[in-house]
Amino acid sequence: MYIDIMAPEKSKSSVAKSPNARGVYIETYGCQMNVADSEIVASIMQDAGYFMTNDIDQSNVILLNTCSIRDNAEKKIFNRLSQLRGIKKRKNNKLVVGILGCMAERLKGKLIGERDLVSLVVGPDEYRSIPSLVSNAFDGEQGIAVKLSKVETYEDITPLRTEGISAWLSIMRGCNNFCAFCVVPYTRGRERSRTLNSVVDEVKHLYDNGIKEVTLLGQNVNSYFDKLAKHDFPTLLAECAKAVPDMRIRYTTSHPHDMSDGLIEAHAIYKNICNYIHLPVQSGSSKVLKKMRRDYDREQYLMRIEAIRKAVPDIALSTDIIAGFCTETEEDHQETLSLMREVRYDGAYMFKYSERENTLAEKYEDDVPEEVKTRRLQEIIDQQNKISAEINKTEIGRVHEVLVEGESKKNPEEWQGRTDTNKVAIFKHSEDIKVGDLIKVKVNDSTSATLFADVIR
Ligand code: SAH
Ligand code: SF4
Ligand code: F3S
Repeated sequence: MYIDIMAPEKSKSSVAKSPNARGVYIETYGCQMNVADSEIVASIMQDAGYFMTNDIDQSNVILLNTCSIRDNAEKKIFNRLSQLRGIKKRKNNKLVVGILGCMAERLKGKLIGERDLVSLVVGPDEYRSIPSLVSNAFDGEQGIAVKLSKVETYEDITPLRTEGISAWLSIMRGCNNFCAFCVVPYTRGRERSRTLNSVVDEVKHLYDNGIKEVTLLGQNVNSYFDKLAKHDFPTLLAECAKAVPDMRIRYTTSHPHDMSDGLIEAHAIYKNICNYIHLPVQSGSSKVLKKMRRDYDREQYLMRIEAIRKAVPDIALSTDIIAGFCTETEEDHQETLSLMREVRYDGAYMFKYSERENTLAEKYEDDVPEEVKTRRLQEIIDQQNKISAEINKTEIGRVHEVLVEGESKKNPEEWQGRTDTNKVAIFKHSEDIKVGDLIKVKVNDSTSATLFADVIR
């Protein structure tokens, strides 16, 4: 799953600081892997004597953890850098600004000196070197570290998670799939997995520290493999589920071409593996899927959905869809719309195709005109909203167990929680309900994005 963090995640609240310590402020863009990585960077920086702050004015080091997935993700960072120039002036230039993440890996040295601001560029596999590079940057040196690794997993580093009841946990890094449109294999390097034991131990540690829900992360979790002990993803999931039976377990992202029966079975067996699967389809046309190098066709994908629904009938499903990929005709587009109607996803992340440098698709002609991409995307979004609203209407009257997350974004008197099926439910808050509680609610109304519910006592 891809969450485009529009309002970027800020670094977690201040953690113990010594008088001469320097403050680090991290802003995170892109997917959950970046959110998890920022927590690793925070941990590395804290161990090196820095303190983390979410007040940019208190910071001496600003790190932007960036995304390259589409052109507009990168534009956002350039705009942000322009804004940050003002801060540097206010601080009399005593500020180090660094670019981390996928843009750092993709653009490398080209980012040094960007907007007269950037003196540090560090790719996803070189985060251990940030403290020394930052220290050199305060002495006026520019630093670039963008080597990709075949082995780095940061398995030995405990991420600095200071808030919340849900945790992200990267079980693997990189991707070997090379889907034609995608920049990730180039920015994140080759796929490598952590050991099963290290993941299970971290999950237990999270549970012992009051975390109620964990999401196991990888670009393609189905190909997770602990090489030494020879454990696959369904085994890892089952071991986690058994180790912390009272904790909710989620994962993302599954690739349809190796969504195994074993994985589907794990959903049916373990109550604490959430009833929700994100299974990106990208297109409903077998011709386009082939061109995308997705390794499955429409029929195979629909057969996987059928197998999932048969084993776990009340499961919620979501997907990713790209509108206007190279050679996509009106007919192909109609096939995407019809697949969506057939599957009836609970939700979807929908994007216009954006050509990325060095990918296979860069060699194809980007032949769908911008206005056609825009119109097709809008049709996809409109149809999904209608389906989501219809599905959520059928929720009215149903009872769900929700994990309480806290105040709702719109009205502090109302709180929100999440169902096992990953839907946000809004309910009236009362004194006896705390963040992290599991409570029962009955849905009384809904929209395409939200359930409204009464607390059941
Ligand atoms: N590993 C995940 C996806 C990671 S990227 C998977 O395989 O499903 C998240 C989503 O961004 C993708 O599923 C795809 O829908 C979208 N995406 C990736 N590259 C894109 C591009 N060049 N243009 C538009 N959307 C893209
Ligand atoms: Fe990109 Fe495909 Fe890998 Fe997902 S599986 S990260 S879309 S190359
Ligand atoms: Fe994630 Fe964006 Fe990189 S989606 S892996 S941060 S390109």
